[in-house]
Amino acid sequence: MSSPNPITATLIPGDGIGPETVESTIQILDALGSPFLWDVQQAGVAGIDALGDPLPEQTLASIRKHRLALKGPLTTPVGGGFRSSNVRLREEFELYANVRPAKTLIPGRFENIDIVLVRENLGGFYVAHEYYIPVGNDPKAVAVSTGMNTRESSKRIARFAFEYALKNGRKKITVVHKANILKLLTGIFLDAAREVAKEYEGRVEMDDMIVDACAMQLVLNPWRFDMLLCTNLFGDILSDQIAGLVGGLGMAPGANIGESAAIFEAVHGSAPDIAGKGVANPISILLASAMMLDHVDKQDLATRLRKAITDTLNIDSIRTRDLKGEATTKQFTDAVCKRLASG
Ligand code: NAI
Ligand code: MG
Repeated sequence: MSSPNPITATLIPGDGIGPETVESTIQILDALGSPFLWDVQQAGVAGIDALGDPLPEQTLASIRKHRLALKGPLTTPVGGGFRSSNVRLREEFELYANVRPAKTLIPGRFENIDIVLVRENLGGFYVAHEYYIPVGNDPKAVAVSTGMNTRESSKRIARFAFEYALKNGRKKITVVHKANILKLLTGIFLDAAREVAKEYEGRVEMDDMIVDACAMQLVLNPWRFDMLLCTNLFGDILSDQIAGLVGGLGMAPGANIGESAAIFEAVHGSAPDIAGKGVANPISILLASAMMLDHVDKQDLATRLRKAITDTLNIDSIRTRDLKGEATTKQFTDAVCKRLASG
């Protein structure tokens, strides 16, 4: 089905399970009749293989032009090697807000989870100004890392979170920090959030929690949380944790949003352990494409897509291995398409 008013967006298949989950998503979006036309570009290890660069200029130019992208996971070497293309993309387009919802779609260990995590996406420890200090004849005796948060960037992400709450009918934001130890780095984040919260008094509540206590509360009583507002590193960690509350990384989408562009992706990485086997769960990136439909004001399509996913999981009982099912990526994909055709 083709849409009467197409919207061109960049499509980056990515590495590992990226291409297979992206292919599944495109097949389902086509069955849905989505408005997207795709400008396919490479990044990550696939970018190195195709063009000798983990973040080729033509990929950046495509995103600059369309201001909208759907991206598969990109492999980043641990320790040495090139810097994360994900982090570079966020910096290049100033994608300061990372939105990561976790919502229960299938019965599991925790019922009725519905948490939206908003993560500051550019600062904190991810600026990664790191260096060694030599001691004696060991040139790498001491490792140092510097984090940075500005009052302005902290207020900007807090305002984003409160506006998101208003727009999406959310009631409470819990600011996550470690201001008892990292008094300046995360203290400025908390102060800025408190300042912004005053503008929303009576409309959206705010409280705050130290990150370690929050990690425990997320396991003991996750239902007390509505939205989490986190610094960069804590948001990265806790977003995997809330994904765990709803069935794992296969169920967790994310959006990276700035003034000049928005990039939608799964929370998970390239999953090299299962790549190429045709068993990956495509729901994370599929739900990211639903967020992308919301972003371009196609809420009706997003709602149909989400319903087709939950019906496939719960009525047809078709699930991939990570959800204790037996379906391959392709079988799940075909089942969602069938749901869309019948609904
Ligand atoms: P990972 O998220 O790729 O995998 C962690 C575990 O979850 C693995 O056992 C994997 O099989 C499983 N898993 C993840 N997604 C799944 C899915 N859709 N269906 C079924 N099982 C799934 O994390 P890992 O292994 O630490 O990282 C692998 C690579 O991905 C690294 O190079 C890392 O830097 C990169 N990465 C990229 C991200 C991005 O592009 N946004 C985010 C996180 C990691
Ligand atoms: Mg992560």
